[in-house]
Amino acid sequence: MWNSDSLIEMMDSKFKDCRIIVVSNREPYIHRHHNGAIKCISPASGMVTALDPILKACGGTWVAHGSGNADKATVGPDDSIMVPEDNPKYKLRRVWLTKEQETGYYYGLSNESLWPLCHITFTKPKFDPNHWDTYQKVNSLFADAVMEELDHRPTFVFIQDYHLALLPKMLKDRNPNLIVGQFWHIPWPNRETFRAFPWKEQLLEGLLGNDLLGFHIRHHCLNFLETIDRGIEAKVDNERFEIIRNSKTTVVRPFPISIDFEQHEIEANSTTVKKYVNKFFEEFELEGQVLGIGIDRIDYTKGIPERLIAVNFFLEKHPEYVGSLTFIQIGVPSRSHIDLYRNLEDQIDNLVDEINWKWQSAAWKPIVFLKGHYTQHEMMAFHKLSQFCLITSLHDGLNLVGKEFVASRSDNDGVLILSKFTGAARELTSALLVNPFSIEEISDGIFKALTMPESERNKRMINLREVVSENNIYRWAGKFFSTLLRLEAQELKAEL
Ligand code: G6P
Repeated sequence: MWNSDSLIEMMDSKFKDCRIIVVSNREPYIHRHHNGAIKCISPASGMVTALDPILKACGGTWVAHGSGNADKATVGPDDSIMVPEDNPKYKLRRVWLTKEQETGYYYGLSNESLWPLCHITFTKPKFDPNHWDTYQKVNSLFADAVMEELDHRPTFVFIQDYHLALLPKMLKDRNPNLIVGQFWHIPWPNRETFRAFPWKEQLLEGLLGNDLLGFHIRHHCLNFLETIDRGIEAKVDNERFEIIRNSKTTVVRPFPISIDFEQHEIEANSTTVKKYVNKFFEEFELEGQVLGIGIDRIDYTKGIPERLIAVNFFLEKHPEYVGSLTFIQIGVPSRSHIDLYRNLEDQIDNLVDEINWKWQSAAWKPIVFLKGHYTQHEMMAFHKLSQFCLITSLHDGLNLVGKEFVASRSDNDGVLILSKFTGAARELTSALLVNPFSIEEISDGIFKALTMPESERNKRMINLREVVSENNIYRWAGKFFSTLLRLEAQELKAEL
């Protein structure tokens, strides 16, 4: 069983004289000016939720885009700050981008091209050569920052996600001794879909700079191997999940990401969370109500409109719940400079209005839409108060919300309704799995959750909790790093 201590032990014994550098677009701590003071926030990102505990446990440096308007005011002359500020454990090195660079690289190529290309939600990607040009330049800026962080020690660079697909090759070209691994947090599409990407050879070549490339599930690994096989000159070994190009091997493996189950559970049982439970119970008038929750960034891949329409359908089908079902949807605004995301916020606002208008009485309405940022403790309180948690992503690399819900439920109660098209559905098989494109299936899932005998709810929740507590974030990191180490050892042996 992996935990923080066993990961530290492994890193201390095997990586003692090494340097670990994590690189991602999104930083784990953002500083913003707020009412004349500087406030530090942690962003709504599964990637950050998962990686922060690892860096806290193992130390090292995290290189990321400094996106907060007070970020520059909080770093030292080396563009770095030790975090978390109240108990510093690792170094956060910020990379500065101009507005134009952020537009082309982050909003443009990453989130208007690669994001819709990799998520099958039938959203057409946008391909703009200027965005591609900026993406290349920004990847190179990240490479500069990593190179500046190097010293005499052997270095493992652990790159995150689709914003930095070109970085692995750039780093290897500059220093072939670096050991480079990357984790792709979103799905990898089938080769037919990927074929549309106009700069596919360069992108794939960039990724093949990695020694190890991780996806959440085997299915995404297979899609990637097939994309390479048909898309670029390389030898693909489907048995060993390896790709050889220009005598360089890239190993591809699934590593389903997770959360710090133990720590999450402790926090969820804290007095702070209990206070929020009482506060929300009063504030949302939950006496005599059954409560369902949804927690997401406002993103079209999350299937939020589909979910609301399903709640409406459920009330039509089961009018006995009119007056007694409250569904609270937390929506964290995200990527709002992109039209599709802005329009989605409007669409959700309108839907909530429409559905509530149809059903509400003087004292009750079915949907409460909370747009904004909530702390981990507040979200844990919502987990604890609800009878069911509804996740209807149309497509999702993994989705950590379900794992967080499960970790909050030490009472072994509550039902998880989970989209079949999330990576998490492969592990969380005791959830009620639904097709998020089917309003009937979601509605049936809600009905089943609300009418399920307590004994079955307990049984399912116990199973789910076992899975998440065992497949926790330390296991994810432990497996990734030990695989990387094994590859390094093999390479050394081959050189001798
Ligand atoms: C997904 C991606 C992450 C990203 C997160 C939040 O989980 O895999 O890399 O950080 O969404 O999106 P944002 O664009 O706000 O970083």
